[in-house]
Amino acid sequence: MQKLLIKNIGGLVNVRETAPERVAGREMNELNVLHDAWMAVENGIIADFGTMENWPGISDWTGLEILDAEEGYIFPSWCDSHTHIVYAGSREGEFVDRINGLSYEDIAARGGGILNSAARLADAGEDELFESALRRLKEVIALGTGAIEIKSGYGLSLESELKMLRVISRLRSAVNIPVKATLLGAHAVPAAYKNDKDGYIRLITQELIPAVAAEKLADYCDVFCERNYFTPEETIHILETGLKYGLSPKVHANQLSASGGVQAGVKVGAVSVDHLEYVGDEEIAALLNSTTMPTLLPGAAFFLGLPWPPARKMIDAGLPVSVATDYNPGSSPTGNMNQMVSMLCITHRMTPNEAINAATLNAAAAMDLSATHGSITPGKVASFFITQPMPSVNYLPYSFGSNLVKEVWINGKKL
Ligand code: NIG
Ligand code: FE
Repeated sequence: MQKLLIKNIGGLVNVRETAPERVAGREMNELNVLHDAWMAVENGIIADFGTMENWPGISDWTGLEILDAEEGYIFPSWCDSHTHIVYAGSREGEFVDRINGLSYEDIAARGGGILNSAARLADAGEDELFESALRRLKEVIALGTGAIEIKSGYGLSLESELKMLRVISRLRSAVNIPVKATLLGAHAVPAAYKNDKDGYIRLITQELIPAVAAEKLADYCDVFCERNYFTPEETIHILETGLKYGLSPKVHANQLSASGGVQAGVKVGAVSVDHLEYVGDEEIAALLNSTTMPTLLPGAAFFLGLPWPPARKMIDAGLPVSVATDYNPGSSPTGNMNQMVSMLCITHRMTPNEAINAATLNAAAAMDLSATHGSITPGKVASFFITQPMPSVNYLPYSFGSNLVKEVWINGKKL
């Protein structure tokens, strides 16, 4: 039986005796930080916490391990609900093309973008994809991420989509954090179906989704609902088919235009709609009548030079907001959640409290993990990180670009 007591915690962040599934509107600004605190962990689970002046009355000290946090802050692990970390090669050539004036859509129209990654992935073996994705996964865990979602979507054929999802299964077995898998067959129309989009949609709905469900390779089904990609009607058709096979819907929505992706997601009861650069009153009204989590991906908006989503307006209207990295080779080549939290504050005018709730509790909800992750709550898993000593919780987003994560603990074990 493991018994761990952590003392001298400068601030224990997002402490909740009992945690709601998510926080919305004004509640997003409520973040309880217990200063000068201790936390007890038993068998990988958070058992209790308090302040140092009320040192816990422990009846049995045998086998008790004591750790000194040395005034560092403890945060519940970041949850990253949207990544594409299984990929081959990289796309810094397109990065330079954009600096020289081409847009993301111009590059896609030339056969670059997602189709560029699909061509490279088709040639890559499963082992090589696994090794490179595992490196990225370990990198983000060391930066504080304690639960992650990973998408397919660079396969765009039955064989290659299954290859990507099998790699994601192997990643799940290789690390001790939750890894959720998403089928994103509808990420783009592959070159082989250039003049037969309906044929590709039939491949997704009649072959790919059933095969993925039969092998239990995915939790979610996602669609890139955007002009030149998939329409709202096609999105709904694909996601409803996924639902019949037990895959919960997610949508890449309103990234490059007011695509109708948000409304399509709400219509099918999506767990989350992600990106949201082109969101206005209609989308906000649709989301207010739903349980769908609006998820912001500031890394992609920044990297592609897109307008910021109206985060302030969404929260002020009463919505919840979560944040993810979108770690992928084309639009967000980073998986650093600390950086996303800083960006929400700096560019989206969210308070540090709102940004931290977005990256923990609401991010857990965006992948159905709020029962076990997203806050410091007795009964939840002891997955957290310890920072360098900080003057206040606001110091983490303020220190953008610095890495303040000193130690990572997953399920009560030090990394
Ligand atoms: O979430 N928007 C669509 N899909 C990815 C980018 C994929 C790529 O460019 O490789 C995204 O930004
Ligand atoms: Fe994405």
